[in-house]
Amino acid sequence: MGCGEWNTLHEEVLKKEEKFQSTTPSDITPLTQTIEYPFERTQTGIGELDRVLGGGLVAGSYILLGGPPGIGKSTLLLQMSGGLSQHGKVLYACSEESTGQTALRAKRLNISSSDILLFNESSIENILEKARNLKPSFVIIDSIQSVYLSELQSAPGTVSQVRECSNQLMHFAKSTSTSVLIIGHVTKEGSLAGPRVLEHMVDAVLSFEGETHYRILKALKNRFGATNEFGVFQMSDKGLEEIQNPSEFFLEERGKDRIGSAVFTGVEGGRPLLCEIQALTLKSYLAMPRRTSLGIDVNRLHLILAVLEKYFQTPFSKYDVFINLVGGLKLSETAVDLAVISALLSSYHQKPVEPCFFGEVGLTGEIRSCPFGKERVQEAERLGFKEVYLPQSNQKGLQSSKIKVKVISHITELSHLFS
Ligand code: TYD
Ligand code: MG
Repeated sequence: MGCGEWNTLHEEVLKKEEKFQSTTPSDITPLTQTIEYPFERTQTGIGELDRVLGGGLVAGSYILLGGPPGIGKSTLLLQMSGGLSQHGKVLYACSEESTGQTALRAKRLNISSSDILLFNESSIENILEKARNLKPSFVIIDSIQSVYLSELQSAPGTVSQVRECSNQLMHFAKSTSTSVLIIGHVTKEGSLAGPRVLEHMVDAVLSFEGETHYRILKALKNRFGATNEFGVFQMSDKGLEEIQNPSEFFLEERGKDRIGSAVFTGVEGGRPLLCEIQALTLKSYLAMPRRTSLGIDVNRLHLILAVLEKYFQTPFSKYDVFINLVGGLKLSETAVDLAVISALLSSYHQKPVEPCFFGEVGLTGEIRSCPFGKERVQEAERLGFKEVYLPQSNQKGLQSSKIKVKVISHITELSHLFS
């Protein structure tokens, strides 16, 4: 039996004596006597990064930053080094670019500190030896796929090298309370190149992704904070700039002609995020009309179209339907349903819709409640929306606000918007 996949056979080179090293002494400690909370955190100088880390960088933490080539991983960590250097020495091991290249980039980014120590080295033994001598507070490895352990014969970037180098770095971080950040490349399919064990070893996995002009930093795993936290950046000629108001950023280019466009008051990682949903409905000449959904689960779209056909008699089974979440965002919240419905009906009836929306739709057309109702309404109000449509059960606990709140319990109650 085979796995039916190419390139899944990896060379494994075992070290002469593989022995397990424990990170902590194995003495028994009563739970009540353990760990002092809160963790000691250092501000990185980048607010959006601190937010994703859970409020700053925890001493002795071991963090992986993953992302496709050219997305800005080295830029982010170099900018972060600038901020961290005010709190301690930073050893930046650049094995992918020369120290000259890195220094030039730092100059462009206006980063200058004698506490950032560049080291162009690929041997993990040499990097760790240097780190033991210099005793920096922070170590950055750019990247984990380009460093190697000389005891292993396999090439850098292979499974055994990545795993062993990562293991050594983890022991170093934990035994010396040094924060270690490693950069990891992702494959074309979007997963981290290297063994899954890498993700298990680290305390936090941050992913950096994005479209042409913006970047989103997310925590996929975080032992010191909430996951699903996100930060938004813009890549400019001065490096990565933080976007403190992502809602404004994502609605900035909303056209004047609002037909087929509805605003969703979303929440990502507990933070409100308003974004635009666009829909286009066209009479189809295909036996099986097209359904294209970018940023929203296509099965969710199928469900919504079926509910619409049932309660609004819209002949979408004979229409091509396209949905796009503007800005290349991806959302998994079911609260998006009501905004998708409004964008679809707006396109079908050629009528613009002005309010913003949130609410999940059930198969019987009922509108179900969503978490963070108050935060969503506040954000819509802050951005100057005059009206928000929301599920009935989200009305509770809403303080009187300037924004008009329209409560709906069934999708048919939307019909007056399009008549
Ligand atoms: P980089 O940090 O090298 O990406 P990674 O380490 O993820 O491979 O960033 C690469 C891109 O960012 C590069 O194409 C140039 C661009 N960039 C800017 O637009 N402005 C800048 O100030 C910097 C430093 C880079
Ligand atoms: Mg790089």
